[in-house]
Amino acid sequence: MTQPLLITHKISETLTQLFDGLKFDKLFILTDTETNRYCLPLMNEEIREQAQIITIKNGDVHKNIESMSEVWEYLSNNGATRRSLMINLGGGMITDLGGFAASTFKRGMTYINIPTTLLGSVDAAVGGKTGINFNGLKNEVGVFSNAKYVIITTEFFHTLTNTEFLSGYSEMIKHALIDSDETWNAILHYNLEEKNLDQLTPLLGKSVKIKERIVNSDPYEKGLRKALNLGHTFGHAFESYAMRIHKEVPHGYAVAWGIVCELYISHKKQGFPVTKLREAVDFIKTIYGSFYFTCNEYEELYELMTHDKKNESQDVNVTLLSDIGEIQINQVATKNEIFEALDFFRECNGF
Ligand SMILES: NC(=O)c1ccc[n+]([C@@H]2O[C@H](COP(=O)([O-])OP(=O)(O)OC[C@H]3O[C@@H](n4cnc5c(N)ncnc54)[C@H](O)[C@@H]3O)[C@@H](O)[C@H]2O)c1
Ligand SMILES: [Zn+2]
Repeated sequence: MTQPLLITHKISETLTQLFDGLKFDKLFILTDTETNRYCLPLMNEEIREQAQIITIKNGDVHKNIESMSEVWEYLSNNGATRRSLMINLGGGMITDLGGFAASTFKRGMTYINIPTTLLGSVDAAVGGKTGINFNGLKNEVGVFSNAKYVIITTEFFHTLTNTEFLSGYSEMIKHALIDSDETWNAILHYNLEEKNLDQLTPLLGKSVKIKERIVNSDPYEKGLRKALNLGHTFGHAFESYAMRIHKEVPHGYAVAWGIVCELYISHKKQGFPVTKLREAVDFIKTIYGSFYFTCNEYEELYELMTHDKKNESQDVNVTLLSDIGEIQINQVATKNEIFEALDFFRECNGF
């Protein structure tokens, strides 16, 4: 299941070397309107010149069947075959949709993921999950499929907004918590004001490898891969609630707030050390601010968690930690424990 992961400071050099050994009849590059503008110019001229560029509208709302159909239509009308190569150049929206489009066109053509957001690099572009939103549901249709290569570089991050950068960073926080004290300390000490991208590269490399290790041990999410859900049970509920009240909350922010709640339950049920809980809560509060809700919203948030597709029963299934790096999957939180965690979250944020 492993997909070769190349981490580089210079995408153009890596591509030159890689293309020497690649065989294909036609080359396609999939971008969205933003990555076409900001990221495509950083690619090697000779590669851009031989490629046919497909551009779809940006944003998760366009990760849909219409965009997918546009991509298939372009490939079909422009002579793509099973021996063609597609480069997905973009954030998670492009690598999810492009991976799905490529792995289904003519029953599967080769593709390379070049993520251009921090979230895409640390999460979406690795792990083999591809897909689109459908029928009003996130990632409702898709396949497990691996890119031939995933090439990661921080060169694209100069044009990301601070919010997009921080949204990706929360998945790095999650990876560090499920990994080790050492990784966690590195995450705490990276200077998020300066955002030195050279210093980010080794941290990012480490973070992606944590995901890769877990995915390789459980590619189809039957067991340990659930560790990657840390923060996501509460996080998805915050995201859905925010969407209902027409408030825009980036995925990574919701996950960071979810981590606060799930570490609290980890402390109560699995003895996660209180000093580390405090440290994580303070760090997350400083970076991600807070999310306002009252106890009137508890029932709705709880309902959203029991309907989370990752749950196997009516109980709320959560991934907990007994310490940093000590993962406890398939844990159950009761309604009382959920409410207590929401109380804790509000107390930490002073409301
Ligand atoms: N497959 C997986 O395992 C997995 C994991 C996590 C998230 N995802 C998916 O990933 C998507 C979210 O990823 P995302 O946050 O990268 O979103 P995205 O791809 O929608 O990118 C966010 C925005 O940034 C723009 N952008 C991308 N790169 C840029 C750059 N270098 N400079 C300036 N602007 C840039 C995009 O055009 C877009 O407007 C969601 O669809 C989510 O479902 C998938
Ligand atoms: Zn996530």
